[in-house]
Amino acid sequence: MSDKPWGGRFEAPTDAFVEAFNASTHVDARMYAEDIAGSRAHATMLTAQGILSEDDLKLILDGLNQVEQEIESGELEFTIALEDVHMNIEKRLTDIIGDAGKRLHTARSRNDQVGTDTRLYLRKRTDDLMVRIKHLQGVLVKLADEHAETVMPGFTHLQTAQPVTLGHHLLAYVEMFSRDYARFSDARTRMNQCPLGSAALAGTTFPINREQTAELLGFDAPCANSLDAVSDRDFIMELLSAASICSIHLSRFSEELILWMSAQFGFIDLPDAFCTGSSIMPQKKNPDMPELVRGKAGRIVGALMSILMTMKSLPLAYNKDMQEDKEAIFDAYDNLEGCLRVFGDMLPGLKANIANMHKAAGSGFSTATDLADALVRAGVPFRDAHEIVGKSVAHCIKENIELHEMPHAACQAIDLRLTLDMVKALSVETCVAARNHTGGTAPEQVRLQCAKWIKQFND
Ligand code: ARG
Repeated sequence: MSDKPWGGRFEAPTDAFVEAFNASTHVDARMYAEDIAGSRAHATMLTAQGILSEDDLKLILDGLNQVEQEIESGELEFTIALEDVHMNIEKRLTDIIGDAGKRLHTARSRNDQVGTDTRLYLRKRTDDLMVRIKHLQGVLVKLADEHAETVMPGFTHLQTAQPVTLGHHLLAYVEMFSRDYARFSDARTRMNQCPLGSAALAGTTFPINREQTAELLGFDAPCANSLDAVSDRDFIMELLSAASICSIHLSRFSEELILWMSAQFGFIDLPDAFCTGSSIMPQKKNPDMPELVRGKAGRIVGALMSILMTMKSLPLAYNKDMQEDKEAIFDAYDNLEGCLRVFGDMLPGLKANIANMHKAAGSGFSTATDLADALVRAGVPFRDAHEIVGKSVAHCIKENIELHEMPHAACQAIDLRLTLDMVKALSVETCVAARNHTGGTAPEQVRLQCAKWIKQFND
């Protein structure tokens, strides 16, 4: 004999290990509020359609309130014997209100139920993530505005390329996070359809009103195809794609913060509250938070791989494989939320070492392109100018001087068109200020961009 809610046709009880292995309560218990919300909507719709009586509805709604309270107070503990959140809640409801509780599952299956709960839960968590992304953007824009004029080296191949402003560099991440935000928002729109009423896979014989349940739960519409509704996990794949890309942006940022905080760069310091020391080396202050955030990307991308592989080749409609869908995204979301929170809290305390950045910005012949541009403005074709400046750099390396320190004679010896005025005019400030066009690194552009973002955040 089986004591399960589905045990009618079974003669033997479930194997003890299988019972534990099969259960998902440890993962899906956190969707209890969504499960109860779904049941409220379902029962309300059934009543409006004359499928449940008003008396039953009252019992169900009161009973669900009690179950919710019992869960929140810790009074009700879920048991693996009841497999998942759905059956634990239904069983407790039935223990409290009797037959009315047993009627709740009319015209419903756990297949449409779990799809609905997961969408509702992830919709909320996605909204939370989006708030965190916006907050982090706000922190970055503020920092960028403060450092609109702070000059640092820009790199390509991690070799000094041209001077940029720290503000401009930070705003690059604001752009990335705005695309992350848009990706979550876009996925959220597509996800916001209600599976309820699809029942096990084919719909139900009862005269239900799926539009009503969808509306009660804040969905834009019911899912259009019952088979698709119960077997679709695109939303998890999409949300994890968005989460993965966001975590990769965070890992790139982390990597830069870690480099910048090293003694060799000496560009920044991060607040003590976000760093740790070494148990053996007394001098150490390690950028643990950026390191950890960098590491989390691996795990979040792993979650994406996990759901992709779980869904690959699954026939329609529901398959138990799909129970594996939640653990990875819950873990990924918890961790991404943590990363965004840590960055949002840590970055206001970032101290830029402006003098070191400035010094580094001027090293490595970072103004060479600007010298070539000056020659071009004097009528020299760009390729010739490139050659002339290349020779100048070689000369400076030999003499151990900077481009702007080249004497008149040296300039003229390289090319008669290279003048002392041109080399003397070279400074990192001029370099950045000159790039004063849309998307350029000039302080004026950085300020304009910051103002644009602030306006956008306030709209
Ligand atoms: N615990 C299951 C899951 O997370 C709920 C759906 C189970 N449906 C079923 N027919 N066994 O996927």
